Amino acid sequence: MAIEIRPLTKHIGGEVSGIDIRRPPSREEVAAIEAGMDRYAVLVCRSPGITDEQQLAFTLQFGPIQPAEGTNVTKPHERRLDVKFSDVSNVAKSGDLLERANRRRMFSLANRLWHSDASYRAIPAKYSLLSGRIVPTSGGNTEFADMRAAYDALDAATKAQVEDLVCEHSLLYSRAQIGITEYTEEERRMFTPVLQRLVRVHPVTGRKSLYLASHIGNIVGWPQPEALAFIRDLTEHATQPEFVYSHKWQTGDLVIWDNRQTMHRVRRFDDLNQVRDVRRTTTKGDGPTVAQQAA
Ligand code: OGA
Ligand code: MN
Repeated sequence: MAIEIRPLTKHIGGEVSGIDIRRPPSREEVAAIEAGMDRYAVLVCRSPGITDEQQLAFTLQFGPIQPAEGTNVTKPHERRLDVKFSDVSNVAKSGDLLERANRRRMFSLANRLWHSDASYRAIPAKYSLLSGRIVPTSGGNTEFADMRAAYDALDAATKAQVEDLVCEHSLLYSRAQIGITEYTEEERRMFTPVLQRLVRVHPVTGRKSLYLASHIGNIVGWPQPEALAFIRDLTEHATQPEFVYSHKWQTGDLVIWDNRQTMHRVRRFDDLNQVRDVRRTTTKGDGPTVAQQAA
């Protein structure tokens, strides 16, 4: 059976059928998924019963893994999942729900802000693959915004203004937006800001996109208040409903997104009472978007 992709909105998102991603894909299937990603930027696959091993094997078809270390506040002994996974669930290693004041929970709450994964790394992420193992009965949608369509819809003057801008990204900036300001010295070092171009060009399609994220804390050469007010304007523009696909999770969904062309956020749900076990694997990007010292 050949892969088919059904568009989910006018700009972004496709639902994949005709492939069982729990088995090793053929070269043709991998090529079809990549072509689908280039076109739709977000793909939804159904894979009930997928295991961590199967998710990892499927992810590796699209490039080397970007492991979770150096990107969060979880200590190695607190990890529930292998370090190749980002644990974005609300479940502790013990199996209990994270408690209200838990630091990993506080950090994860910032996933409710629009962002692009690992834009705070000098070499940012390419694809993210998020597997919904247990999902809540209501709330907890993941929303995706199309940064290509958002770029295309800018007026000519704004396109000229953003063309060569470079932004500073750090987890410190996104977390500060929800009041997280206390860090160890080691965490501060780990979260040292990196530079990213504000306009990216997709290596295959040549399409331009806005590289926005709540991780942005400044624009190089600008006064910070002017930079943050401008980034806020652009973000508001880029996340209008017309550019957004909202994913309502079913058990077993695997959603793949291209961080180079999209932003995403999770919507709130009753996380102190309902389990949301979602597990992310991430592939590394090809290189930095702007020359800089390695982070
Ligand atoms: C992520 C993320 C959103 C979600 O995994 O990168 O932002 O829906 N998750 O949990
Ligand atoms: Mn994310």
